[in-house]
Amino acid sequence: MQKRIVIANWKMNPTNLAEAKKLFLQVKKVASTLSHTETIIAPPFVFLGELSKMYRGKKIAFCGQDMSFEERGAFTGETSAAMLKSVGATHVIVGHSERRHVGETDEMVNKKIRTARDAGLRVTVAIGESDRNHKEGTHLEFLTRQIELAFKNISVKDLSRIMIAYEPLWSIGKSAKQAMKSQELEETVLFIRKILMRLYGKGAAFKMPILYGGSVEGENAQELVKHSGVQGFLVGHASISAEEFSDILCAVNTA
Ligand code: PGA
Repeated sequence: MQKRIVIANWKMNPTNLAEAKKLFLQVKKVASTLSHTETIIAPPFVFLGELSKMYRGKKIAFCGQDMSFEERGAFTGETSAAMLKSVGATHVIVGHSERRHVGETDEMVNKKIRTARDAGLRVTVAIGESDRNHKEGTHLEFLTRQIELAFKNISVKDLSRIMIAYEPLWSIGKSAKQAMKSQELEETVLFIRKILMRLYGKGAAFKMPILYGGSVEGENAQELVKHSGVQGFLVGHASISAEEFSDILCAVNTA
């Protein structure tokens, strides 16, 4: 069985390094005991180096929440792939809806994937529609376009270091009750695989880990991972509560 994957996207939390260390230690206690689940922590950049120094095992990895597509130079406020690696990150998220909201385009997402690939980082590409229109299927067209543009000039060989996080905007930052239901998610995951199949063939399409993000909590994690074909989750608000996040990890690990 392929390992489950859970990414903790802390976003702009917690407020200081002491809190970040405390949260990490609590998560580590649970994450380091799980045999079927890899936990990936995506803290704010400024905490990455300090946190990665606190762990030496193989069950937890560290991840940037974003990165520049430039390698170096006069880009005030940006963080490069090499910088992420130098402080212990092995993964990066690109295309998160909160980055797209402040101007990240599909073309930038594609450039970031290629830069991360060249630097040897593992990439989680976030995609997702802002609303659904079942009558006209415009959300499906939207997803198709996002994937086609993100994966432009990405070869089938590159895919072994890439995952997709499907995060419909309408279900982000709510509660488990308002999250996507497993049947709808299963259909969307299959749809995503069909697009990948057209681009890369069946084998590669079915190997690609697809995660779900959007109001995953302890309450809905097991049902979603069991019945929707996702390999794990990208967790936002519930990842900054050690208790809630541990519930998710345990639910996923035993599903
Ligand atoms: P959420 O966020 O779990 O708070 O909905 C998910 C995300 O934005 O990555």
